[in-house]
Amino acid sequence: MNQRINPLVWNDGVLRLVDQRYLPHTINYIDSKNLEDAHMAIKDMVVRGAPLIGFSALYGMALWLKGQTSLTSDSITQARKYLESARPTAVNLAYEASRAQKLIEASLSEGMKVADIYDRLVNFANQEMIKLGNDNLEMAKTAAKHLAELYGDRPLRLMTLCNTGFLACGPMGTALGVISHLNQLKRVEKVFAFETRPYLQGSRLTAFELCQENVPHQIVVEGAMSYLMRTQKIDAIFIGADRIVANGDTANKVGSSSLAIVASHYKVPFFVVAPVSSFDTSLESGDQIEVEMRDPKEILCLKEQRIAPNESDAFNPSFDITSAAHIEGIICENGLISPVTKSKLLSVVNL
Ligand code: MRU
Repeated sequence: MNQRINPLVWNDGVLRLVDQRYLPHTINYIDSKNLEDAHMAIKDMVVRGAPLIGFSALYGMALWLKGQTSLTSDSITQARKYLESARPTAVNLAYEASRAQKLIEASLSEGMKVADIYDRLVNFANQEMIKLGNDNLEMAKTAAKHLAELYGDRPLRLMTLCNTGFLACGPMGTALGVISHLNQLKRVEKVFAFETRPYLQGSRLTAFELCQENVPHQIVVEGAMSYLMRTQKIDAIFIGADRIVANGDTANKVGSSSLAIVASHYKVPFFVVAPVSSFDTSLESGDQIEVEMRDPKEILCLKEQRIAPNESDAFNPSFDITSAAHIEGIICENGLISPVTKSKLLSVVNL
């Protein structure tokens, strides 16, 4: 394996992030030193991918604490909400910012000083980062076991969309963690990675991760998904999630829903892999999820070069909602949810 870059490092009160906007050809680092820096890094997609956005929020709350002399419930809530407003769809952001708020308030009520609460929050975030790595491995093992039941141990032909590896989801990744684990077990024949228009997380980031892990792969355009499923003997599809609600409906990168519908047409099993922090059981159905709308320029331009007519506008929903009915299984660190029903989901996730 090649030398890995680490997309998020906490070092002595500074959150150092790889600027993912310039990957794979340029590796730049950006330091966040306060709450505003962390907010900007999430909003502008220096750091992205649901779990890593969540961790940026945990450490972002620590950056905020560093600058405080006294704390009130209102000031903590204000900081949390400010971070949460950076991006709306990935629930991990709100989940981790809320966990930080709870930890700070509990510590306050124990009479702790701000400096000690800061240390406690940083330790908590560091421990949770280690846990995320262990959880990634659990998800990968669950998926490998299930695939062995379906296909034995023969090498598989897989598909994935967007980016769910170590740049987005912790040391191994979620959906891509499954793929790298299978590859280590010599159970991957080939991966088709969708380029993921318009922001190209697939061709820029997933392909970079697959190269680092020496996984045989080809990049494909989303428009080819039906042709590939018709002709390329695809065994399974793995994607991540930005928010999974109580009935199993899942928000993920735009294109996921079309992929699931086409997969169901060709009877290719479609799996979602995500940690418990990506579940939002306070919502009943995917219709209640706020979908982030991004700058039309992402569609109208390639890098800074305008490609569409100057008069044209674009509509740029960054996510879509896959109905539970099209999902074969959802895998989290607690196990496999299949069939995807509300009762099964609630019993496995146990939030
Ligand atoms: O807009 P992004 O790059 O943050 O979107 C990332 C994705 O949609 C991922 O597939 C998702 O967060 C699931 S797991 C990283």
